[in-house]
Amino acid sequence: VSPAHDSDPAAEQLLSLRDYEHAAARVLDPAALAYFAGGAGDELSLHQNVAAWQRLALRPRVLAGVERRDPGVTLLGTRRPHPLIVAPMAFQALAHPDGERATARGAHGTGTVVSLATLGSTSIPELAQAVPEATRWFQVYVFKDRGVTRELIAQAGEHGYEALVVTVDLPVVGRRERELRTPSSAHADAIPGGRAAGAEGALTPMQFAALVDPALRWSDIERLVADQPLPVIVKGVLRSEDARLAADHGARGVVVSNHGARQLDTTLTGAEALAPIVDTAGDRLDVIVDGGIRRGTDVLKALALGARAVMVGRPLLWGLALDGASGVQRVLEILLTELDVALALTGAPDPAQLDRSFVSPAAWVTEPR
Ligand code: GLV
Repeated sequence: VSPAHDSDPAAEQLLSLRDYEHAAARVLDPAALAYFAGGAGDELSLHQNVAAWQRLALRPRVLAGVERRDPGVTLLGTRRPHPLIVAPMAFQALAHPDGERATARGAHGTGTVVSLATLGSTSIPELAQAVPEATRWFQVYVFKDRGVTRELIAQAGEHGYEALVVTVDLPVVGRRERELRTPSSAHADAIPGGRAAGAEGALTPMQFAALVDPALRWSDIERLVADQPLPVIVKGVLRSEDARLAADHGARGVVVSNHGARQLDTTLTGAEALAPIVDTAGDRLDVIVDGGIRRGTDVLKALALGARAVMVGRPLLWGLALDGASGVQRVLEILLTELDVALALTGAPDPAQLDRSFVSPAAWVTEPR
């Protein structure tokens, strides 16, 4: 038995994503923590994102023969080993000096798709060169300077990114009070997408986000689909009508999301918005969901409601802050282990066996934990 080591996450008994959250809050710089952890307004949706999954009770099947289990799913027509995707998250150098490179390494270590944010601290070619083997998607903020966005999208295509995740729920930036009270900043030189869009000097994340074009419309999505070869996923949809419009305008997927509750407080959660969107547009595009996924059971519930995949955000930043690529990988491994146990114990050895009969509204009321 080797002696316990202080910085070894296993020695600290980091067993759950919540353990990572608490441990990361102790090591992160307060301004970075305010940026990453905060939500909009009173943070009601921030809490409900987690609680909404908890309000669903599981209805396990028994004696289903679960000796062989496979969490694999089909996403954008491609077989993936499991349904997890690293959500796009900006400014990852605030969590760890290796930033997005470490996140992509940790993701690749578990076969997880990783999304690079337009406002990432690593450029499109840098990440591709550092972790060429990872399955990479590029998250697009359409800037007021459309030429810059066209250039970034062209770079993503040249450097082997496999899809564009166009975030449409940030025409303006939400009011995030933790961030306003304890602002962080990054130099434009350290945020390649922001610098390309004309940012100069040290800016807060909210100032960078002000480069985004609030005039974006469905016709722009259609043009984006037509003008370049990568599949387009529209991120930030909460209404069935909008999911239908996404399909009408050529999107291959939607992410049902309230942007980690960072934009408008008291919106629906992804968990609540998911089923009607699957019913309306699930036969025309891939429905992905995010927000509040903290347990393997949450992933299973999302799949049972009809999602093809789930995005995970903040918990990976906690892993990144604590232990770089290994921390990211470990958080993903915890979720995958929990998902495997959940598949076995609900009697659904692979996601194709799941349907809505596996969940029902819970009779309990939970305090989000
Ligand atoms: C950027 O997209 C943010 O939510 O901070």
